Amino acid sequence: MKIAILGGTGDQGPGLALRWAMAGEEVIIGSRAAEKAEKVASELNAELGQTKIRGLDNVQAAAAADIAVLTVPYSAHLPTLESVKAQVQGKIFIDVSVPLDPENPRKMKMPAAGSATEEAQAFFGDATKVVAAFQNVAAHLLRDPTHAIDCDILVCGNDVEAKKVVMGLVSKMGMHPYDVGPAESARVVESLTSMLIRLNIKHKVKGAGIHLTGLPR
Ligand SMILES: NC(=O)c1ccc[n+]([C@@H]2O[C@H](COP(=O)([O-])OP(=O)(O)OC[C@H]3O[C@@H](n4cnc5c(N)ncnc54)[C@H](OP(=O)(O)O)[C@@H]3O)[C@@H](O)[C@H]2O)c1
Repeated sequence: MKIAILGGTGDQGPGLALRWAMAGEEVIIGSRAAEKAEKVASELNAELGQTKIRGLDNVQAAAAADIAVLTVPYSAHLPTLESVKAQVQGKIFIDVSVPLDPENPRKMKMPAAGSATEEAQAFFGDATKVVAAFQNVAAHLLRDPTHAIDCDILVCGNDVEAKKVVMGLVSKMGMHPYDVGPAESARVVESLTSMLIRLNIKHKVKGAGIHLTGLPR
């Protein structure tokens, strides 16, 4: 499967790219600037000793991929959705965005749609299947593929088949996915991140995560 990570040059994108490439997926790093994407892709390939990752600008990356993943700050959410709307029609779109309050990252500043995920689904329309995932896992944990990640991945969205595909991709990275319901559940999933940030600050750690219990694994 070809997976484009839009804004994949920052903190959250490279770890996803590394882990999917290690699992045998073809990964495209996206950026507003193709050269920046190529540079990050070649650094990741060097780290892996392979060539499964390439770099393109976000629009070309979305066009070339079967699945697009969005890892940009929430302030860039709508502009980035607008820039790739045509290219992601009919595809699965994984939204990793967390609408933190820019004035205080311990708090959420949810959009009128209810969550970033619902905002993306409403913006694209039903032809694009938006799935929320990876909001609760810290970038530096993803970025170190030698370590297993001690965090469950909550997956939500309105299309059951799309969620199954995303859950398969989560499992390939060695993490446990749970289908936690429709896109509306993203209000909770995205908000959990501000709680984890509070816990990180309180306990002077960087990688607080979550585990669901009492369920089959
Ligand atoms: N970092 C984490 O630990 C973490 C954990 C869970 C969820 N998340 C969520 O994942 C998303 C990405 O987080 P991140 O930490 O990876 O973000 P980031 O490093 O700050 O930015 C990621 C990329 O977004 C692009 N970008 C930045 N400003 C932009 C703008 N104004 N317009 C368009 N593109 C812009 C940049 O790529 P180019 O310059 O190459 O275009 C940048 O490299 C956020 O919504 C965050 O809440 C992050």
